Amino acid sequence: MNKSTNKQRVFSGMRPSGKLHIGHFEGALKMWASLQDTYECFYMVADWHALTTEYADTSRIKEDSFQMVVDWLACGLSPEKSVIFRQSDVIEHAELYLLLSMLTPVSWLERCPTYKEQISEIKDKDLSTHGFLGYPVLQTADIIIYKAQKVPVGQDQIPHLELSREICRRFNNFYGKIFPEPEPLLAEVSKLPGIDGRKMSKSYNNSIYLSDTEEGTLKKVKSMFTDPKKIKRDDIGHPDGCPVFLYQGIYNSDNTQQISLDCKSGKLGCTICKESLGKELNTVLEPIREKRTKLLQNENNIYEILENGSKKAKDIAQSTLTQVRQAIGLR
Ligand code: TRP
Repeated sequence: MNKSTNKQRVFSGMRPSGKLHIGHFEGALKMWASLQDTYECFYMVADWHALTTEYADTSRIKEDSFQMVVDWLACGLSPEKSVIFRQSDVIEHAELYLLLSMLTPVSWLERCPTYKEQISEIKDKDLSTHGFLGYPVLQTADIIIYKAQKVPVGQDQIPHLELSREICRRFNNFYGKIFPEPEPLLAEVSKLPGIDGRKMSKSYNNSIYLSDTEEGTLKKVKSMFTDPKKIKRDDIGHPDGCPVFLYQGIYNSDNTQQISLDCKSGKLGCTICKESLGKELNTVLEPIREKRTKLLQNENNIYEILENGSKKAKDIAQSTLTQVRQAIGLR
C-alpha cells in the first residue's frame, strides 16, 4: 500500500518480444491501462528474464525492449500515472533475487509446470541453466521488492505467482512479515487465435501487429481462416469455432447475433464478413497506430521515460532492501 495515496500496488512485467500484436493488447495491455487510475502501477520490461532463454543471441533484446515500450505507451500506459521501467536498470532486483535464492528449495522450482513444459518442448536452446531454473525466483523479487499486492497476469503465469506466494511466505516465516503475498488479477479475455486459427505467436507468422498499417491489417484479416465447410457464400456456415467469428465477438459485438444468423443461413459470405471485421478492427487500431507514429518521432523521449521510471522504482527498491538486510541480520 502506498501510504500517501492509499492506493494498492500493482506490478506486472513482460519479456521484450519486440512489436506487440493484438493478443497482447486484448490479453494484457487493455487491463494494464485500465488499472492505472485505481492502483499505483509498476510496469516492467523483463529484459533479464528474456536472457533466461535468449542468452546465446542477445542481438534483439535492446531494440525489442524499445519497441515494446512504444507499444505500451501507444496502448495508453502513461508515465504520469505509472512507473514504467526496465528491469536491468534497477539492479536492486538482483540482490533480492540472490537473497531469495538462498531460501528457495530447488524442488519447488523443478516441479513448476512451466519449467517442466519448456524443458521438454524447447529443443533448440539449452535451458539446463541455473538462470532458467531460477526464473520464478527473479519474478518473485520483481514483485515483492515493491510490496505489490496485485499482479495482472495471464493464465500461463499462475503457477509462477503461486510459487511467488510460497517464497514470500517462507521469507516472512524466517525473518518477519515484511512482504504481502501477491495475488493474481486474471484478465478475463478469450484468447485471440492467429489468422490461421492457431495460437497467435511471432514464431507462427500469424499475428496482427499493433504496428501493422491499415492496409496490412485488412490484408491479414482477408487471409484469415474461416469455417472450412463454407466455401461458397450461400453454403451453410458454422460460426462456432470460426476465428473470424470469434474476432467479430470482440470487435463487432453489437452485430454478432445477426452475423451468426446470416452466416448460418448462407446470406452472409466470408469475404463480406471479413471486410466488416477489418473495418471494425482498424477503428480500434487507428488511434494506437497514430500514437505510435507520434511517439517514434521523438525516440529520446522514450529513453527518458524509462530513465525516470527506473529512478522512481530504484527509490522504493532501495528502501525495501534496507529493511530486508536488517531483517535477515546482515546489518
Ligand atoms: N514472466 C512474465 C512473462 O513472461 C514476465 C515477468 C517478469 C513478470 N517479472 C514479472 C510478470 C513479475 C508479472 C510479475 O510474461
